[in-house]
Amino acid sequence: MLTRRPRRNRKSVGVRQMVQETQLTVDDFIFPLFLIEGENKKEEVSSMPGIYRYTLDLLLEEVGECVALGINSYCIFPSLGEDKKDSLATEGSNPEGIYQIALRSIKEKYPDTVVMTDVAMDPYSSDGHDGIVKEGKIVNDETLEVLGKMALAQAKAGADIIGPSDMMDGRIGYIRDVLDDNGYTDVSIMSYSAKYASAFYGPFRDALDSAPKFGDKKTYQMDPANVKEALIEAELDYVEGADFLMVKPALSYLDVIKTLADNFDVPITAYNVSGEYAMLKAAAQNGWLENDKTMLEMLLSIKRAGASAILTYFAKEAAVLLNK
Ligand code: PBG
Repeated sequence: MLTRRPRRNRKSVGVRQMVQETQLTVDDFIFPLFLIEGENKKEEVSSMPGIYRYTLDLLLEEVGECVALGINSYCIFPSLGEDKKDSLATEGSNPEGIYQIALRSIKEKYPDTVVMTDVAMDPYSSDGHDGIVKEGKIVNDETLEVLGKMALAQAKAGADIIGPSDMMDGRIGYIRDVLDDNGYTDVSIMSYSAKYASAFYGPFRDALDSAPKFGDKKTYQMDPANVKEALIEAELDYVEGADFLMVKPALSYLDVIKTLADNFDVPITAYNVSGEYAMLKAAAQNGWLENDKTMLEMLLSIKRAGASAILTYFAKEAAVLLNK
């Protein structure tokens, strides 16, 4: 006879629930939302069914609905017209720009929410890159100044967490100094530490119209082949003062999430990116995968790998299911 029968611990719902190692809850989610200029407009992102770009008035309504579902954390991304873009991403630090106005409005209307930002030049840059372009190259140290200004403007507008997604060297320490020197010692930094040069960002770049005008992002975003390099990036961000270390994308990088979770004591977060969302939506629309179960399995796997919070476009849908 068999002494060890692992199936005994799977024999009923009650037993399965008792031995479940990982639980997904609404508290795990950070919901990314796309902001556009104007009023009373809501446009579906064609490559992300169910995800919209909102003008501020409707974005506030959307946040209200999500708060009612228990989602407490949000990350806002702006989509600007070409007329607002320049080579130095000046609009990114304009206190009266749509982004800063939106941050202020969300915090005013929903003071208990956690509002996270994105720090990178691409939505505001006429070159579509995350840093300053000079002679076809992305220059690191001059970019830090722009990022510092952007982060400060966001902190002044009430951001709880600054999210540098640019992958320039030294940006976490630089931004930490700027924040501290201006009295924003309480504003957190969630660093996109291991951000890979990934094909999974395609739908996001459609949503923001932020694709690079030339070349690619491989001189600053990481090579998908590397995991040791993620440890170097994470170590630097930790030493420079990051409060959270993020891995992005999530699903093809679960080993990276696990490696960082095993090696660092600050919370590890993961960005379940646009292409990961689009893949499931496309399969579900074709009837090839069952949306709800597949979605929850994906999110659970990210948490099981070691992520303590997940940026995900599935947040609202998943919240509805988890609240049942
Ligand atoms: C901008 C930024 C990107 C994403 C988040 N911040 C795109 C990029 O680096 O090109 C991607 C998010 C997603 O695909 O959902 N720096």
